[in-house]
Amino acid sequence: MAKTLLCKVSEVRVGALKQVETGDGREVCVVHAESGFFACRAYCPHQGTALCEGSIDGTTLTCLEHLWQWDLRTGETLGLAAERLEVYPVKVENGSVFLIR
Ligand code: FES
Repeated sequence: MAKTLLCKVSEVRVGALKQVETGDGREVCVVHAESGFFACRAYCPHQGTALCEGSIDGTTLTCLEHLWQWDLRTGETLGLAAERLEVYPVKVENGSVFLIR
């Protein structure tokens, strides 16, 4: 299992979102929900707004631009969203958040 460091747990408070560039040039939005950490593509599949500027409620991510919403656990659309969101598995280990594949 390959792990890519995204950030330290302490860098993203609960309810916050942070855009991270991985070592391989991929940009990821890291979300610290009350139930844990999630990661998804950095830009909205609608018109490319940075998703880290959006908001989180439970596991629902909302893009601030036109309010498309997704379930971060699955990438499934909610509400107005017309396209799925690419989500990535993460793991928290020793105070750090990793992308796993
Ligand atoms: Fe995100 Fe339109 S750019 S909903």
